[in-house]
Parts: sequence; structure tokens; C-alpha cells
Amino acid sequence: MMDTKKTVHDAWSSRFAFILAATGSAVGLGNIWKFPYITGENGGGAFVIVYLLCVMLIGIPIMIAETMLGRRSQRNPIETMELLTEEAGADKNWHYLGWMGIIAGLLILSYYSVIAGWASAYVLKAFTGSFFDADAAAIKGIFDDFVGSPVQLIFWHSLFMLATMLIVVRGVNKGLEKAVQFLMPSLFVLLLLLVGYAMTTGSYFQGLHFLFTPDFSKLTSNSVLTAMGHAFFTLSLGMGAIMVYGSYLPKGISIAKTAFLIAGADTVVALLAGIAIFPIVFANNLHPDSGPGLIFQTLPIAFGAMTGGWLMGILFFVMLVVAALTSSISLIEPAVAWLVESKGFSREKACVWSGLATWLLGLGTVFSFNVWSNVKIFDRSIFQLLDYLTANLMLPIGGFCIAIFAGWIMHRQHSEDELNMPAGLAYPVWKLLISYVAPASVFFVFLHVIGVL
Ligand code: PFF
Repeated sequence: MMDTKKTVHDAWSSRFAFILAATGSAVGLGNIWKFPYITGENGGGAFVIVYLLCVMLIGIPIMIAETMLGRRSQRNPIETMELLTEEAGADKNWHYLGWMGIIAGLLILSYYSVIAGWASAYVLKAFTGSFFDADAAAIKGIFDDFVGSPVQLIFWHSLFMLATMLIVVRGVNKGLEKAVQFLMPSLFVLLLLLVGYAMTTGSYFQGLHFLFTPDFSKLTSNSVLTAMGHAFFTLSLGMGAIMVYGSYLPKGISIAKTAFLIAGADTVVALLAGIAIFPIVFANNLHPDSGPGLIFQTLPIAFGAMTGGWLMGILFFVMLVVAALTSSISLIEPAVAWLVESKGFSREKACVWSGLATWLLGLGTVFSFNVWSNVKIFDRSIFQLLDYLTANLMLPIGGFCIAIFAGWIMHRQHSEDELNMPAGLAYPVWKLLISYVAPASVFFVFLHVIGVL
């Protein structure tokens, strides 16, 4: 029944291409910019443990489910939910899940693009030697001056959005595969070199201690929610990004194995970023809870001090921008795929409209760091509100619904066929995690945060 309507979808050339693209989506600012600063804000080790548990028990099973739903329908998230609901004979309202995903993607991209703009600006700063021999105070000064200027932030945000749109217009599988293939190993090597520098700071073990020695007294229900939300964010789950990528995945390829690979690579990059950054934080008497500016206030110190730091600084920020690009295209792709497949838009028109709307919304984040820094909604700046709404609420709710759909609504036979796991424990374990463990964990964290538990 899945092939009754013609699809305008591209397809990946191989399993490897899917792994690259999905890893490209997963690895991004979430790993290198967000993971360190939220770990710093939430007290370190205990937060990291909760995050790792969420990746394993909630993230990986949901990644398998989301990829499976996409591949079964080979459509955009809204049509996927419509088709699969029909197939399962379930209530039509499930397609709202697709809607929420598309909206969450655009909301995330609106601030993601602003931060990716920061990284782009830092390529230039690295190039002009701004960090050369600069101490922590000077580096902080550079950052504060920069985010205090709406004009500069708008310029770089616009540039990044434009680059995203240009890539998305061409379709996801052209160029992207190559970019990621080269990016991942290089990023990995650069992170290792930064870890090498961190070892020379004299505070290496203090950094490791902060990251890996849990102090559970520092964990609040909100930090647990943040850790769980981040597991969704960093793996690109709960909003249809991985579903869309799954829909381009040829039949007959093992979904579960690929999910482990992607989640593994994603986690390693985040941990390496943390291991590189916290020793620099402590060695320079900076504060782990410095917020979204953390990497911009720490890593340039390393680039300014180490031999070869000039080139490394440039390469690092270039790679961060490319990593952000391979994620941003997956944030906008669900909206574009839907406009093209369901609304008959040309790919160009779909990109322009979704890109423009996202760019406009991004101005809210730009101003929240300067002219509107005093504007608080529910005690949060516009940036913080968008981040909370998407990462802590929309993605976990989306993921919860995906788990319920895959575990309870979809016929067992269908998920078993689609996943095609080797005989033995693999399928029953996944089924247990997706039907009970993942949704119940999300549910309990929510109950805890609203104070019911
Ligand atoms: N996973 C990306 C990161 O860690 O930077 C961000 C992201 C991409 C989140 C795609 C959600 C998404 F659907």
C-alpha cells in the first residue's frame, strides 16, 4: 500500500550515505556548543550520567522507531503519520505529530542559525589573529562586544541562513554526503588535539573530575529535564528530521545497527568537547556556568596560546560551521519536504518561504542577546524560551508520541518486518524499550518537573 502515490523523494545511494547524513544531522552545535554549557550550568557529572542514560534508554530506541516510520512510508513526517495511521487503522489525529515536528524544526533553526552565525564570525576572528596571546579577560571582551552588536549578529545569521537555503534547494543527497565524509574525521582529530592542549593546562584532572564524578545533590528536576531534552536535541529526535532521512533510506538496510553507530559517534564528539573545554575553564578561573558563550570564551584561549593555534582556530570554527550546516539542513528539510510533496511548491519556493520565516524569527534571538536582553517571558529571554520550548518540551513530547505510535499503534508484524532484526533478543528488547521504558521515562520526568511526583 505504501507505493500507491508517487513520491518526489530522493534516495540515499547506500546505507553508508544514510549514516553520514544522519550523523551530520546529529553532530552539530548541540555537541560542541550546547552540551558543554548546559553541563556547566547543571553541575557536571550527575547531569552527564543522566544524559548518557537518556541516550541509551530513550534516544536509541526512538531513533530506531523514527527511522523505521520514515522508511516505511517514504514520505514527509505529516504524510508519514497519515499513511501509517491509515495502515494501522488508528485515529487520524496522529498527523498533528508531523505538524509539531515541522514547527519545532523551524523554531530550533531560528536560534540555531544565530549561534552558527557566531561560529562563522569566529572563523574570521581566528583568521585575523584576534586570539593571539589573548588572556581570558580579553577573549571575554571580544565575545561581549560581538554579541552586543545586533548588526553583526544579523549579518552572520543571514549569511548562515542563506547557506542553509542554498544547500537545501539542491536536495539533501547532493554534496552533503561528501561534506560529512570529510568533516567527521577532521572534527574528531581537531577535538583530540584540543584535548591534548587541555592536558597541558594543569587543570586537566579537575576538568575530568567535574565531567565524570557525579554529585547527585546538584541535580534538580529541571536539570533532569534538560538532560533528557538534550538527548533528543543532540540525536535530532522527536521532530521528524530523522524520519525524513529515514524516508530516503532504501529498503532492506538494518536500521538498528545504524542507530547505534550514529548515537555512538554523536556521544563521543560531545564528550570530547567537554573534556577539551572544562580544563581550560578551570585553568583560567572561568565559571563552568557561563552560559551560551562558554565555548567562545574558552577555546580561543587555547588557540591563542598553543603552537599552530592560528591555523587550528580557523579550521575548528570552519568545521563547527560545517557541522552546524549539516544539522540545519535537517531542521528545515521536514518543512520543505512537506511543502513540496503535499502543497505542490517547487523546491526553490519551499526553501525561500521556510527560510525567510525562520530568518525573521531568528531576529528575536539576535535581540535577546543585546537590545532586548531585559525582555523576559516566563523569566526567560527569547532565546532561552525558544530553547526550553523546543528542546525540553516539544522534542520529548514528539519523541513520546513516536514511541507510543511505534510501540502500541503500529502492528507488531509491521514493525518487525520493517526492522528486520536478527532472530533473538534484539526485537523484543527494542519493543520493550519503545513501548514501556522510553515513554514512561519521559512521562515521569514531566510529572517530576510539574511537581506531581
Ligand atoms: N542534533 C543537532 C545538534 O546536536 O546540533 C541539532 C538538531 C538537528 C536538533 C536536527 C533537532 C533536529 F531535528
